[in-house]
Amino acid sequence: MTIAVTAVSGQLGAAIAKALIAMNMGETIVGLARSPDKAQGLGIEIRPGDYDHAEQLRASLAGADTLLLVSGMAAPENRIQQHRNVINAARAAGVKKIVYTSVQGAEEGTAFSSIIQSNRQTEADIRDSGLNWVVGRNGIYIEPDVEYIDNYRKAGEVANCAGEGRCGYTTRCELAFAYARMLTGEEHDGHTYNLHGTPLTQAALTDHLNRAFGTELTYRPISHAEFKADRIAELGEFIGTIIAGIYQGIHAGALDNPNDFEVAAGRPHQSWDDYFGSIQLGLK
Ligand SMILES: NC(=O)c1ccc[n+]([C@@H]2O[C@H](COP(=O)([O-])OP(=O)(O)OC[C@H]3O[C@@H](n4cnc5c(N)ncnc54)[C@H](OP(=O)(O)O)[C@@H]3O)[C@@H](O)[C@H]2O)c1
Repeated sequence: MTIAVTAVSGQLGAAIAKALIAMNMGETIVGLARSPDKAQGLGIEIRPGDYDHAEQLRASLAGADTLLLVSGMAAPENRIQQHRNVINAARAAGVKKIVYTSVQGAEEGTAFSSIIQSNRQTEADIRDSGLNWVVGRNGIYIEPDVEYIDNYRKAGEVANCAGEGRCGYTTRCELAFAYARMLTGEEHDGHTYNLHGTPLTQAALTDHLNRAFGTELTYRPISHAEFKADRIAELGEFIGTIIAGIYQGIHAGALDNPNDFEVAAGRPHQSWDDYFGSIQLGLK
């Protein structure tokens, strides 16, 4: 059996390819990448895979039985068509099963909601494709908060508009393990899974950061308007507005959902004590 993984030049696609290789179940793993040069070093065949190029996708999916589609990064209105290009190419190439990396979040009322809606449309397109399918709705990556530690340290605090909202964070490594299982196990077909670890408030996240990095950060809730202005000043209008929208969703409880990680992965999600303990020991 051949499993194709898209966007293997990116962090999640590469992690899923590595998890499949580590699982070593006898499948051939093929990587697709818009930028094949960035995807060398995985030890698998890399083929061109730009979501805007329907014919290229069809040729690159030749011989694939199962496909992992990593959600793209384009604006929502373009993203839906890009994903349709991949789904149509998969069907034309004879792929029998698609696994899609979707996302959790507020479906309306925030600046992130149009992206959530575009992901929901792709979920529907996949369900309607006639192929076997599995959808994973990913929680929020925790790594960006860890990578942001020097900025938090300078500010002496974590300040955002999530307030008391609990967020189902996850890591790309944990997601990759779950997706490798979802790709290779027929029992997952036809399921939509929320994939995250134990939900955390921002205060709890701040405590974990303090233990891991020896900091004395405090958490300060601020308004959505203040956080949005702060993020736009640092990241620009488009990304800044989206980031503020994600935290607006956390505040509203849209990232505090029932969790299917253990069913998908066959084991519980890594605990946050364990994850941040590894950082404290310099293992991550
Ligand atoms: N759950 C979360 O917290 C969260 C946060 C951010 C993003 N996401 C979503 O999760 C996805 C994967 O995350 P990641 O960590 O792997 O992001 P990443 O490291 O930035 O990688 C993004 C990948 O998407 C590829 N890509 C973008 N547009 C493409 C196109 N038109 N055709 C083919 N490939 C395309 C990129 O290819 P190139 O190498 O050619 O650029 C890259 O491989 C993202 O794409 C986004 O949809 C989730």
